[in-house]
Amino acid sequence: MEKHDFVTIADLSKEKIMYLMNMAQAFEMHPNREILKGKVVATLFFEPSTRTRLSFETAANRLGARVIGFSDAKVTSATKGETLKDTILMVSNYADVIVMRHHIEGAAQYASEIAPVPIVNAGDGAHQHPSQCLLDLYSIYKTQGTLENLNIYLVGDLKYGRTVHSLIMAMRHFNPTFHFIAPEELAMPEEYKLYCRQHGIKYIEHTDFNEDVIAGADIIYMTRVQKERFSDLMEYERVKDVYILKNDMLGKAKENMKILHPLPRVNEIAYDVDENPHAYYIQQAQNGLYAREAILCDVLGISLEEVEADTTIIK
Ligand code: CP
Repeated sequence: MEKHDFVTIADLSKEKIMYLMNMAQAFEMHPNREILKGKVVATLFFEPSTRTRLSFETAANRLGARVIGFSDAKVTSATKGETLKDTILMVSNYADVIVMRHHIEGAAQYASEIAPVPIVNAGDGAHQHPSQCLLDLYSIYKTQGTLENLNIYLVGDLKYGRTVHSLIMAMRHFNPTFHFIAPEELAMPEEYKLYCRQHGIKYIEHTDFNEDVIAGADIIYMTRVQKERFSDLMEYERVKDVYILKNDMLGKAKENMKILHPLPRVNEIAYDVDENPHAYYIQQAQNGLYAREAILCDVLGISLEEVEADTTIIK
């Protein structure tokens, strides 16, 4: 059987995205099952994580699989000089699928080329975060009832924010209009603007972020300024608090507008927004469980039909 990785969102067709939306929906209805009983899922996190690692591990546990792995590379033989290649080959001896986060862009792609088991990219540097993208798509689909023709405002660190890079690529199938709102130093990189132009994706760049601007949005996607990617911390200090979403900026928002954030937040969304019905970032993280249940099953060769016919559901 052909090995099936989940390394980039750019490869996914519209049909495949909608297929995975349907699978996530099936898991939201029945998240607890034994459909992965007997499988071992490895989570290799060379970079810190709360949501991605824990939701993948929860997904594996709730589907009956067992989990091995590490959340800190400092406790592994990488500190003794073991290469990524050897680490991946070793873990392939033990696990049926490897979920990995690494600071090097392209690390998951490399792993997928050498590993005999499926690789799931849980974030590679400032490059891609495809499982976050799938849960973002699921959150948008759930709240808007469609992925088509939406006005999506990406705000904050558009240079280093891998989640917004993945979202642009995935949304190419759905005729979005993007607004890129970032300080000049953290503007959307030229390669992603080129990608938009090549794929007919409409985008507008501006620096204003106020009540009148927000009035046009279906989705506001806030991002954290990625301190860990700056070589000059003075520059980080200059840009870190340029955009802060506050409750009093939401008075003219469309009724069904939702605020997303991949989290963690540092200071980009004031705490007074949390009680506002437009706030959706906590539920968004919960959707990560269902999206990641779908990803694990998909890479392990379990189809939507099998999920729908599954008799291992635990009520
Ligand atoms: N959204 C996200 O990737 O969060 P973590 O870094 O906590 O996994």
